[in-house]
Amino acid sequence: MNILITGGAGYIGSHTAKALLQEKNHHITIVDNLSTGFLKTIETLQAISHFEFVKLDLSDWQSVASFFVTHSFDAVIHFSASLIVPESLTKPLDYYLNNTANTTNLLKECVKHNINKFIFSSTAVVYQELSIDQVQNGLSEDFPLMPINPYGHSKLFSEQIIQDTAKAYPDFKYAILRYFNVAGADKEGLIGQSTANATHLIKVAAQTALGKRDKMFIFGDDYATQDGTCIRDYIDIDDLALAHIQALAYLENGKSDIFNCGYGKGFSVKEVLETMKRVSGVDFKVEMAPRREGDPAVLIANSEKIKKEMGWEPRYNDLSLMCQKALEWEKKICV
Ligand SMILES: NC(=O)c1ccc[n+]([C@@H]2O[C@H](COP(=O)([O-])OP(=O)(O)OC[C@H]3O[C@@H](n4cnc5c(N)ncnc54)[C@H](O)[C@@H]3O)[C@@H](O)[C@H]2O)c1
Repeated sequence: MNILITGGAGYIGSHTAKALLQEKNHHITIVDNLSTGFLKTIETLQAISHFEFVKLDLSDWQSVASFFVTHSFDAVIHFSASLIVPESLTKPLDYYLNNTANTTNLLKECVKHNINKFIFSSTAVVYQELSIDQVQNGLSEDFPLMPINPYGHSKLFSEQIIQDTAKAYPDFKYAILRYFNVAGADKEGLIGQSTANATHLIKVAAQTALGKRDKMFIFGDDYATQDGTCIRDYIDIDDLALAHIQALAYLENGKSDIFNCGYGKGFSVKEVLETMKRVSGVDFKVEMAPRREGDPAVLIANSEKIKKEMGWEPRYNDLSLMCQKALEWEKKICV
């Protein structure tokens, strides 16, 4: 397949691109405006196998239209987005424009050019907040949806638009992947998460362990969880990249659906920090801070559907390994 990857200079897009390049079954093209992605990442990937990179901003709809006239694709994997939850509360319109409006325009181009396979990066924050007792077996894809921040809404609106597109154009097939908390770095150490000012817990903990930050914060210890801190389901980046490859095969079978991507096991913020301290051997400084607006208490996936429907078999379901990989990558980008 000829595959367009949007946002391929970023964290998840680059790991998926690497997995696709190593599979060698597909031709990829990456577009990215490099707002939070990195040219260096693209160059590292191009050393694995050549592909075209186009610096393109998906908000420039005229240039996007011209790009689709000169390129031909069988599938689109759409990663590009803005994704900082607290920022989405102060800049909601930027989030709706970049995430929802630009996705709509991209879909319009897909329909216009008969590109009938679409994989979309969604998120666990589309789900309604439920208590830990209500999600004993994790959040299934059919659980109630009610985001509590503009980022989640921007993704949920996009999900709806994708499903409406598929209803109107029956040849158009989609896989909406709802990622839980993505962590770690490429198993071969070539790429990782380089995001500036990242808010992702495992990355921030790795930076603090290495002294890149003098301390870090736990935002709220009064949640209705065992130790009072938020619980999340952390998924290794290499397992998530694999899910995209399997989603392509799923779409080739002419099906569409929504899938959770997580392991079905939650760890509290305190448990993650203890793990990072153990793995790094550094007792770094952690301070308590008030809750952040927009943070649900518990997000744990029920991932039975992706295993059953796509045959996804995670290989790196190990919090210590995710912390180790994040730490190794962070050491690498120190120098
Ligand atoms: N990281 C997570 O834990 C997580 C969890 C759930 C969902 N997601 C989703 O996964 C996707 C990828 O996230 P990530 O962690 O790799 O983020 P990232 O910031 O590393 O990657 C996003 C990429 O998109 C590019 N981009 C942004 N706006 C663009 C535009 N208008 N035109 C062209 N390129 C643009 C950025 O430059 C960047 O390279 C996002 O859609 C995000 O919402 C991420």
